[in-house]
Amino acid sequence: MITRRIVLASRPGPEGPTEDNFALTEAPLPEPADGEVLLETQYLSLDPYMRARMYEGANYAAATALGEVMPGGTVSRVVRSRSARLPEGRIVTSRNGWQTHHVCPAEGLETVDPALGPVSTALGVLGLPGHTGYGGMIRYGRPQPGETVLVSAASGAVGSVAGQVARIRGARVVGIAGGPEKCRYLTEELGFAAAVDHKAPDLPEALRAACPDGIDVYFDNVGGDIFAAVIPLLNARARVAVCGTIAVDRNQPAKPGIDRLQELHSAILIKQLTLQGFLFDMLGDMQEEFRRDVSAWIRSGELKYREHMVEGIEAAPRAFLGLFRGENFGKLIVHMSG
Ligand SMILES: NC(=O)c1ccc[n+]([C@@H]2O[C@H](COP(=O)([O-])OP(=O)(O)OC[C@H]3O[C@@H](n4cnc5c(N)ncnc54)[C@H](OP(=O)(O)O)[C@@H]3O)[C@@H](O)[C@H]2O)c1
Repeated sequence: MITRRIVLASRPGPEGPTEDNFALTEAPLPEPADGEVLLETQYLSLDPYMRARMYEGANYAAATALGEVMPGGTVSRVVRSRSARLPEGRIVTSRNGWQTHHVCPAEGLETVDPALGPVSTALGVLGLPGHTGYGGMIRYGRPQPGETVLVSAASGAVGSVAGQVARIRGARVVGIAGGPEKCRYLTEELGFAAAVDHKAPDLPEALRAACPDGIDVYFDNVGGDIFAAVIPLLNARARVAVCGTIAVDRNQPAKPGIDRLQELHSAILIKQLTLQGFLFDMLGDMQEEFRRDVSAWIRSGELKYREHMVEGIEAAPRAFLGLFRGENFGKLIVHMSG
Protein backbone atom coordinates (compact mmCIF):
# COMPACT_ATOMS: atom_id res chain seq x y z
CA MET A 1 0.00 0.00 0.00
CA ILE A 2 1.29 3.41 -1.03
CA THR A 3 0.20 6.76 0.37
CA ARG A 4 0.46 9.94 -1.70
CA ARG A 5 1.26 12.81 0.57
CA ILE A 6 2.31 16.43 0.74
CA VAL A 7 5.32 17.05 2.92
CA LEU A 8 6.97 20.21 4.17
CA ALA A 9 9.92 20.50 1.76
CA SER A 10 11.42 23.76 3.07
CA ARG A 11 10.66 26.45 5.62
CA PRO A 12 9.11 29.76 4.50
CA GLY A 13 11.44 32.64 3.66
CA PRO A 14 10.91 36.37 4.34
CA GLU A 15 7.97 36.46 1.89
CA GLY A 16 6.08 33.87 4.00
CA PRO A 17 4.82 30.45 2.83
CA THR A 18 4.80 29.71 -0.92
CA GLU A 19 3.95 26.66 -3.02
CA ASP A 20 7.70 25.87 -3.23
CA ASN A 21 7.65 24.94 0.46
CA PHE A 22 5.56 21.84 -0.31
CA ALA A 23 6.37 18.62 -2.20
CA LEU A 24 4.09 15.80 -3.34
CA THR A 25 5.73 12.44 -2.56
CA GLU A 26 4.79 8.79 -2.17
CA ALA A 27 5.62 6.47 0.71
CA PRO A 28 4.92 2.82 1.48
CA LEU A 29 2.54 2.03 4.33
CA PRO A 30 2.81 -0.95 6.69
CA GLU A 31 -0.03 -3.48 7.04
CA PRO A 32 -2.20 -2.51 10.02
CA ALA A 33 -1.06 -4.34 13.18
CA ASP A 34 -3.40 -5.69 15.82
CA GLY A 35 -5.71 -2.87 17.01
CA GLU A 36 -4.88 -0.68 13.98
CA VAL A 37 -6.80 0.41 10.90
CA LEU A 38 -5.91 1.53 7.39
CA LEU A 39 -7.70 4.77 6.57
CA GLU A 40 -8.48 6.34 3.21
CA THR A 41 -8.88 10.11 3.38
CA GLN A 42 -12.18 11.39 2.03
CA TYR A 43 -11.93 15.02 3.13
CA LEU A 44 -8.94 17.02 4.37
CA SER A 45 -9.36 20.21 6.38
CA LEU A 46 -7.10 23.17 5.50
CA ASP A 47 -6.76 25.64 8.38
CA PRO A 48 -4.87 28.86 9.13
CA TYR A 49 -2.98 27.30 12.10
CA MET A 50 -0.94 25.22 9.64
CA ARG A 51 1.05 28.32 8.63
CA ALA A 52 2.67 28.57 12.07
CA ARG A 53 3.59 24.85 11.98
CA MET A 54 5.69 25.46 8.85
CA TYR A 55 8.20 27.54 10.81
CA GLU A 56 10.86 26.27 13.13
CA GLY A 57 10.47 27.09 16.79
CA ALA A 58 7.88 27.12 19.48
CA ASN A 59 4.28 28.00 18.92
CA TYR A 60 1.43 26.57 20.96
CA ALA A 61 2.05 23.32 19.05
CA ALA A 62 5.23 21.68 17.77
CA ALA A 63 6.66 22.65 14.37
CA THR A 64 6.33 20.22 11.46
CA ALA A 65 9.74 18.68 10.71
CA LEU A 66 11.21 19.02 7.21
CA GLY A 67 10.16 16.03 5.11
CA GLU A 68 7.21 15.32 7.43
CA VAL A 69 3.60 15.13 6.20
CA MET A 70 1.73 18.43 6.66
CA PRO A 71 -0.58 18.09 9.65
CA GLY A 72 -4.35 18.24 9.32
CA GLY A 73 -7.68 16.86 10.41
CA THR A 74 -9.52 14.51 8.05
CA VAL A 75 -12.71 12.60 7.53
CA SER A 76 -11.56 9.14 6.53
CA ARG A 77 -13.00 5.71 5.71
CA VAL A 78 -11.74 2.51 7.32
CA VAL A 79 -10.61 0.37 4.37
CA ARG A 80 -8.82 -2.39 6.37
CA SER A 81 -9.36 -3.15 10.03
CA ARG A 82 -7.60 -5.16 12.71
CA SER A 83 -9.84 -3.70 15.38
CA ALA A 84 -13.24 -5.00 16.51
CA ARG A 85 -14.11 -1.43 17.47
CA LEU A 86 -13.97 -0.04 13.91
CA PRO A 87 -15.17 -2.34 11.12
CA GLU A 88 -14.32 -1.68 7.47
CA GLY A 89 -16.52 0.97 5.89
CA ARG A 90 -16.79 3.05 9.08
CA ILE A 91 -16.29 6.84 8.62
CA VAL A 92 -14.12 8.52 11.26
CA THR A 93 -12.43 11.80 12.03
CA SER A 94 -8.68 11.48 12.29
CA ARG A 95 -5.49 13.49 12.07
CA ASN A 96 -4.12 11.85 8.91
CA GLY A 97 -2.49 15.03 7.63
CA TRP A 98 -2.20 15.86 3.93
CA GLN A 99 -2.16 12.32 2.55
CA THR A 100 -4.40 9.82 0.83
CA HIS A 101 -3.95 6.92 3.28
CA HIS A 102 -2.81 6.39 6.84
CA VAL A 103 -2.32 3.52 9.29
CA CYS A 104 -3.02 4.26 12.95
CA PRO A 105 -4.49 2.80 16.15
CA ALA A 106 -8.30 2.56 16.12
CA GLU A 107 -8.26 3.81 19.71
CA GLY A 108 -9.06 7.52 19.83
CA LEU A 109 -10.71 7.76 16.39
CA GLU A 110 -14.21 9.17 16.51
CA THR A 111 -17.00 7.77 14.34
CA VAL A 112 -18.92 10.18 12.09
CA ASP A 113 -22.62 9.45 11.68
CA PRO A 114 -23.53 10.05 8.00
CA ALA A 115 -27.21 10.27 9.03
CA LEU A 116 -26.48 13.65 10.69
CA GLY A 117 -25.67 15.31 7.35
CA PRO A 118 -22.76 15.53 4.91
CA VAL A 119 -19.73 13.93 6.63
CA SER A 120 -17.51 16.86 5.56
CA THR A 121 -19.31 19.02 8.15
CA ALA A 122 -17.32 17.14 10.82
CA LEU A 123 -14.37 19.33 9.69
CA GLY A 124 -16.30 22.60 9.66
CA VAL A 125 -19.58 23.68 11.14
CA LEU A 126 -19.88 20.53 13.31
CA GLY A 127 -16.12 20.20 13.87
CA LEU A 128 -13.25 22.22 15.34
CA PRO A 129 -14.02 25.58 13.66
CA GLY A 130 -17.72 25.46 14.56
CA HIS A 131 -16.89 24.44 18.12
CA THR A 132 -14.37 27.30 18.38
CA GLY A 133 -16.86 29.89 17.10
CA TYR A 134 -19.68 28.61 19.32
CA GLY A 135 -17.66 28.11 22.50
CA GLY A 136 -15.49 31.21 22.09
CA MET A 137 -18.49 33.46 21.56
CA ILE A 138 -20.54 32.07 24.44
CA ARG A 139 -17.76 31.71 27.01
CA TYR A 140 -15.57 34.73 26.24
CA GLY A 141 -17.82 37.06 24.22
CA ARG A 142 -20.81 36.56 26.55
CA PRO A 143 -23.21 38.45 24.20
CA GLN A 144 -26.32 39.94 25.76
CA PRO A 145 -29.58 40.80 23.96
CA GLY A 146 -29.34 44.19 22.25
CA GLU A 147 -25.55 44.45 22.51
CA THR A 148 -23.42 45.13 19.44
CA VAL A 149 -21.17 42.21 18.56
CA LEU A 150 -18.48 42.59 15.91
CA VAL A 151 -16.90 39.53 14.23
CA SER A 152 -13.95 39.59 11.80
CA ALA A 153 -13.34 36.98 9.06
CA ALA A 154 -17.09 36.70 9.55
CA SER A 155 -18.00 34.67 6.47
CA GLY A 156 -15.42 31.99 7.31
CA ALA A 157 -15.61 28.70 9.18
CA VAL A 158 -15.18 30.08 12.72
CA GLY A 159 -16.56 33.60 12.22
CA SER A 160 -19.82 32.56 10.58
CA VAL A 161 -20.70 30.34 13.55
CA ALA A 162 -19.54 32.90 16.15
CA GLY A 163 -21.68 35.62 14.54
CA GLN A 164 -24.78 33.49 14.15
CA VAL A 165 -24.56 32.28 17.76
CA ALA A 166 -24.52 35.92 18.93
CA ARG A 167 -27.46 36.73 16.63
CA ILE A 168 -29.44 33.76 17.99
CA ARG A 169 -28.70 35.05 21.51
CA GLY A 170 -30.34 38.36 20.61
CA ALA A 171 -27.34 40.58 19.88
CA ARG A 172 -27.01 43.01 16.98
CA VAL A 173 -24.24 41.43 14.93
CA VAL A 174 -21.90 43.23 12.55
CA GLY A 175 -19.46 41.27 10.40
CA ILE A 176 -16.20 42.22 8.71
CA ALA A 177 -15.40 40.44 5.45
CA GLY A 178 -13.38 40.98 2.28
CA GLY A 179 -15.43 42.11 -0.72
CA PRO A 180 -19.08 42.85 -1.54
CA GLU A 181 -20.10 39.24 -2.21
CA LYS A 182 -19.06 38.05 1.26
CA CYS A 183 -20.64 41.15 2.84
CA ARG A 184 -23.95 40.47 1.08
CA TYR A 185 -23.84 36.88 2.30
CA LEU A 186 -23.53 38.12 5.90
CA THR A 187 -26.57 40.40 5.77
CA GLU A 188 -28.78 38.53 3.30
CA GLU A 189 -28.09 34.89 4.28
CA LEU A 190 -26.74 34.90 7.84
CA GLY A 191 -29.00 37.64 9.24
CA PHE A 192 -26.24 40.03 10.36
CA ALA A 193 -27.45 43.60 10.96
CA ALA A 194 -24.57 45.08 8.93
CA ALA A 195 -21.37 44.11 7.16
CA VAL A 196 -18.14 46.06 6.63
CA ASP A 197 -15.79 45.37 3.72
CA HIS A 198 -12.22 45.59 5.06
CA LYS A 199 -10.88 45.95 1.51
CA ALA A 200 -12.88 49.16 0.89
CA PRO A 201 -11.33 52.55 1.78
CA ASP A 202 -11.59 54.07 5.29
CA LEU A 203 -12.25 51.05 7.48
CA PRO A 204 -12.36 53.08 10.76
CA GLU A 205 -15.18 55.28 9.40
CA ALA A 206 -17.09 52.32 7.93
CA LEU A 207 -16.87 50.53 11.29
CA ARG A 208 -18.07 53.63 13.14
CA ALA A 209 -21.06 53.91 10.79
CA ALA A 210 -21.95 50.21 11.18
CA CYS A 211 -21.65 50.36 15.00
CA PRO A 212 -23.32 53.66 16.00
CA ASP A 213 -23.71 52.50 19.64
CA GLY A 214 -20.11 51.29 19.90
CA ILE A 215 -18.96 47.67 20.27
CA ASP A 216 -19.70 45.48 23.30
CA VAL A 217 -18.08 42.28 22.02
CA TYR A 218 -15.32 41.89 19.45
CA PHE A 219 -14.64 38.32 18.27
CA ASP A 220 -11.21 38.81 16.74
CA ASN A 221 -10.08 36.34 14.07
CA VAL A 222 -7.52 38.59 12.36
CA GLY A 223 -5.56 41.04 14.59
CA GLY A 224 -3.47 43.66 12.74
CA ASP A 225 -4.94 46.89 11.37
CA ILE A 226 -8.53 45.76 11.93
CA PHE A 227 -7.88 45.27 15.64
CA ALA A 228 -6.34 48.75 15.78
CA ALA A 229 -9.45 50.23 14.12
CA VAL A 230 -11.73 48.51 16.63
CA ILE A 231 -10.02 49.74 19.84
CA PRO A 232 -11.51 53.29 19.83
CA LEU A 233 -15.02 51.91 19.28
CA LEU A 234 -15.06 49.51 22.24
CA ASN A 235 -17.62 50.37 24.90
CA ALA A 236 -17.09 50.31 28.66
CA ARG A 237 -16.75 46.72 29.91
CA ALA A 238 -16.46 45.37 26.35
CA ARG A 239 -15.15 41.84 25.89
CA VAL A 240 -12.57 40.98 23.23
CA ALA A 241 -12.34 37.26 22.44
CA VAL A 242 -8.97 36.86 20.72
CA CYS A 243 -9.34 33.80 18.53
CA GLY A 244 -6.82 34.27 15.71
CA THR A 245 -4.31 36.54 14.01
CA ILE A 246 -4.67 35.59 10.35
CA ALA A 247 -3.70 39.10 9.19
CA VAL A 248 -0.35 38.77 10.98
CA ASP A 249 2.23 36.08 10.28
CA ARG A 250 3.67 35.89 13.79
CA ASN A 251 6.85 34.27 12.50
CA GLN A 252 7.80 37.25 10.33
CA PRO A 253 9.27 40.51 11.71
CA ALA A 254 6.58 43.01 12.77
CA LYS A 255 5.72 45.52 10.04
CA PRO A 256 6.55 49.14 10.91
CA GLY A 257 3.47 51.20 11.77
CA ILE A 258 1.93 53.50 14.36
CA ASP A 259 2.61 52.29 17.91
CA ARG A 260 -0.88 51.77 19.39
CA LEU A 261 0.29 50.02 22.56
CA GLN A 262 -0.30 52.98 24.89
CA GLU A 263 -3.75 53.60 23.39
CA LEU A 264 -4.67 49.96 23.99
CA HIS A 265 -3.25 49.99 27.51
CA SER A 266 -5.24 53.13 28.41
CA ALA A 267 -8.41 51.71 26.86
CA ILE A 268 -8.05 48.49 28.90
CA LEU A 269 -7.92 50.58 32.09
CA ILE A 270 -10.40 53.35 31.37
CA LYS A 271 -13.03 51.17 29.66
CA GLN A 272 -12.40 48.21 31.99
CA LEU A 273 -11.98 45.92 28.99
CA THR A 274 -11.60 42.16 29.16
CA LEU A 275 -9.28 40.69 26.53
CA GLN A 276 -9.24 36.90 26.52
CA GLY A 277 -7.08 34.87 24.18
CA PHE A 278 -8.26 31.30 23.89
CA LEU A 279 -7.34 28.05 22.20
CA PHE A 280 -9.80 25.40 21.10
CA ASP A 281 -8.65 23.00 23.87
CA MET A 282 -10.08 25.39 26.46
CA LEU A 283 -13.58 24.66 25.13
CA GLY A 284 -13.45 20.85 25.34
CA ASP A 285 -16.09 20.71 28.07
CA MET A 286 -18.60 22.43 25.74
CA GLN A 287 -18.54 19.67 23.12
CA GLU A 288 -21.91 18.18 24.00
CA GLU A 289 -23.85 21.44 24.11
CA PHE A 290 -22.07 22.65 20.94
CA ARG A 291 -23.12 19.56 18.95
CA ARG A 292 -26.65 19.62 20.35
CA ASP A 293 -27.27 23.34 19.68
CA VAL A 294 -25.53 23.72 16.34
CA SER A 295 -27.01 20.58 14.77
CA ALA A 296 -30.49 21.63 15.95
CA TRP A 297 -30.00 25.16 14.53
CA ILE A 298 -28.84 23.73 11.19
CA ARG A 299 -31.94 21.51 11.04
CA SER A 300 -34.25 24.42 11.90
CA GLY A 301 -32.53 26.69 9.37
CA GLU A 302 -31.47 29.19 12.08
CA LEU A 303 -27.78 28.62 11.39
CA LYS A 304 -26.28 28.37 7.91
CA TYR A 305 -22.86 27.33 6.71
CA ARG A 306 -20.81 27.21 3.52
CA GLU A 307 -18.06 24.87 2.42
CA HIS A 308 -15.39 25.74 -0.11
CA MET A 309 -14.40 22.43 -1.69
CA VAL A 310 -11.32 21.90 -3.85
CA GLU A 311 -10.56 18.63 -5.63
CA GLY A 312 -7.59 16.32 -5.09
CA ILE A 313 -4.44 16.41 -2.95
CA GLU A 314 -2.49 18.33 -5.63
CA ALA A 315 -4.82 21.31 -5.06
CA ALA A 316 -4.00 21.56 -1.33
CA PRO A 317 -0.95 23.90 -1.28
CA ARG A 318 -2.46 26.56 -3.53
CA ALA A 319 -5.85 26.42 -1.78
CA PHE A 320 -4.15 26.63 1.63
CA LEU A 321 -2.19 29.75 0.66
CA GLY A 322 -5.47 31.26 -0.59
CA LEU A 323 -6.73 31.33 3.03
CA PHE A 324 -4.39 34.26 3.66
CA ARG A 325 -5.71 36.15 0.63
CA GLY A 326 -9.39 35.54 1.36
CA GLU A 327 -9.80 33.25 -1.67
CA ASN A 328 -11.93 30.76 0.26
CA PHE A 329 -15.60 31.48 0.80
CA GLY A 330 -16.59 29.19 3.68
CA LYS A 331 -14.83 26.26 5.33
CA LEU A 332 -11.90 25.21 3.10
CA ILE A 333 -11.86 21.45 2.47
CA VAL A 334 -10.02 19.18 0.01
CA HIS A 335 -12.18 16.39 -1.40
CA MET A 336 -9.85 13.41 -1.78
CA SER A 337 -12.06 10.34 -2.39
CA GLY A 338 -15.50 8.80 -1.86
N1 LIG B 1 -8.22 29.88 18.91
C1 LIG B 1 -8.39 28.71 18.30
O1 LIG B 1 -8.28 27.62 18.91
C2 LIG B 1 -8.73 28.69 16.84
C3 LIG B 1 -9.32 27.57 16.24
C4 LIG B 1 -9.65 27.63 14.87
C5 LIG B 1 -9.37 28.78 14.14
N2 LIG B 1 -8.79 29.85 14.77
C6 LIG B 1 -8.51 31.09 14.05
O2 LIG B 1 -9.73 31.61 13.56
C7 LIG B 1 -9.49 32.41 12.41
C8 LIG B 1 -10.43 31.98 11.28
O3 LIG B 1 -10.11 30.65 10.90
P1 LIG B 1 -11.05 29.83 9.90
O4 LIG B 1 -10.57 28.44 9.90
O5 LIG B 1 -12.46 30.12 10.24
O6 LIG B 1 -10.69 30.47 8.49
P2 LIG B 1 -11.69 31.19 7.47
O7 LIG B 1 -12.26 32.38 8.15
O8 LIG B 1 -12.63 30.17 6.91
O9 LIG B 1 -10.70 31.64 6.32
C9 LIG B 1 -9.76 32.65 6.56
C10 LIG B 1 -10.33 34.03 6.20
O10 LIG B 1 -9.59 35.02 6.89
C11 LIG B 1 -9.72 36.24 6.21
N3 LIG B 1 -8.42 36.91 6.08
C12 LIG B 1 -7.28 36.38 5.56
N4 LIG B 1 -6.31 37.30 5.60
C13 LIG B 1 -6.85 38.43 6.14
C14 LIG B 1 -6.34 39.72 6.43
N5 LIG B 1 -5.06 40.05 6.18
N6 LIG B 1 -7.17 40.63 6.99
C15 LIG B 1 -8.46 40.31 7.24
N7 LIG B 1 -9.01 39.10 6.99
C16 LIG B 1 -8.20 38.18 6.44
C17 LIG B 1 -10.25 35.92 4.80
O11 LIG B 1 -11.61 36.33 4.74
P3 LIG B 1 -12.01 37.73 4.07
O12 LIG B 1 -12.09 37.46 2.58
O13 LIG B 1 -13.31 38.04 4.68
O14 LIG B 1 -10.94 38.71 4.38
C18 LIG B 1 -10.17 34.39 4.75
O15 LIG B 1 -11.18 33.85 3.91
C19 LIG B 1 -8.01 32.23 12.08
O16 LIG B 1 -7.28 33.31 12.64
C20 LIG B 1 -7.64 30.96 12.82
O17 LIG B 1 -6.27 30.86 13.12
C21 LIG B 1 -8.47 29.82 16.10
